[in-house]
Amino acid sequence: MTQPSSPVSLTRFLIEEERADHISADLRLLIEVVARACKTISIAVGKGALGGVLGDAGTGNIQGEAQKKLDVIANDVLLEANAWGGHLAGLASEEMDHSMPIPDVYPRGNYLLLFDPLDGSSNIDVNVSVGTIFSVLRCPEGVTTPADEHYLQPGTAQVAAGYCVYGPQTTLVLTVGHGTHAFTLDREVGSFVLTTRGIRIPEETREFAVNASNQRFWEPPMQRYVGDMLLGNQGTRGKDFNMRWIASMVADVHRIMTRGGIFSYPLDSKCAPKGGKLRLMYEANPMSFLVEQAGGAASTGRQRMMEVQPSGLHQRVPVFLGSKAEVETAVRYHAEHDAAG
Ligand code: AHG
Ligand code: MN
Ligand code: MN
Repeated sequence: MTQPSSPVSLTRFLIEEERADHISADLRLLIEVVARACKTISIAVGKGALGGVLGDAGTGNIQGEAQKKLDVIANDVLLEANAWGGHLAGLASEEMDHSMPIPDVYPRGNYLLLFDPLDGSSNIDVNVSVGTIFSVLRCPEGVTTPADEHYLQPGTAQVAAGYCVYGPQTTLVLTVGHGTHAFTLDREVGSFVLTTRGIRIPEETREFAVNASNQRFWEPPMQRYVGDMLLGNQGTRGKDFNMRWIASMVADVHRIMTRGGIFSYPLDSKCAPKGGKLRLMYEANPMSFLVEQAGGAASTGRQRMMEVQPSGLHQRVPVFLGSKAEVETAVRYHAEHDAAG
């Protein structure tokens, strides 16, 4: 008689990854700790007004953005959870001016953790999905007290990346460089359970995600690219497109993981002085690692995202990611424009 296969918890999955030599024991602990912090954040998000967690914190961050209460709460949860385990040398967050070495009272490990504690802040108060994004790098050899410069490694150096989306379900999506996998939180048991092993993003798509209200500020190749999609089967693309924009990158990327699509936050004349809207180290790189591991592609429009050499911890970049063939098409529009001078 065939036994029904038992559910695979995140803990079991990580132990098997360690046995397969895909991760070290310390990296396993790190991911477990981040996942536990995400459960705590998920509970806070779920309480909403009952937990007094909605609304503005009354403070601002280094990005010049007003912080929501949940931005601060999620940041504190991740800091507290990761300080004492001995698996990290330091942390960096979208919400903190500088990186933070693990305090001297605790042992220091070999990894650096970077995170966007709460992505999609504008959606918190209206009960729309938000999330947490994280990226793991190795602390450079010989460095015991990491400073900001030690985090400036390209996305290809990431050893793990993931996001947790707090929506109708709480879902953790993870890569350690051997495929991208999804774990759904069993709220009664309090455990993440593997629900999709080896996510594959469809190569072709008819769905795009962009904040179209910025259209008049876009560069010419982006104007042309989206213009051609809007022309649908009457234009050169020869097919109709659908549009979705949640304004939580985590939720938009999760849809792409599920059914394909292209997500883009391009350069526009408003964000150009900063280099783009989204942050390379906390948003673009971890998402690019996850998307590539799921068979998709990720680019700035002119360069593979994970090959960008970072110059600052809070650096911003234009982003195009998702279904491989569609990202290549967006890149082609930029190349053709640039070649024409
Ligand atoms: P964050 O809440 O961490 O600042 O990130 C918000 C980001 C991203 O999640 C989303 O795709 C984008 O900003 C939304 O931008 P618009 O408000 O311009 O649509
Ligand atoms: Mn964000
Ligand atoms: Mn954020």
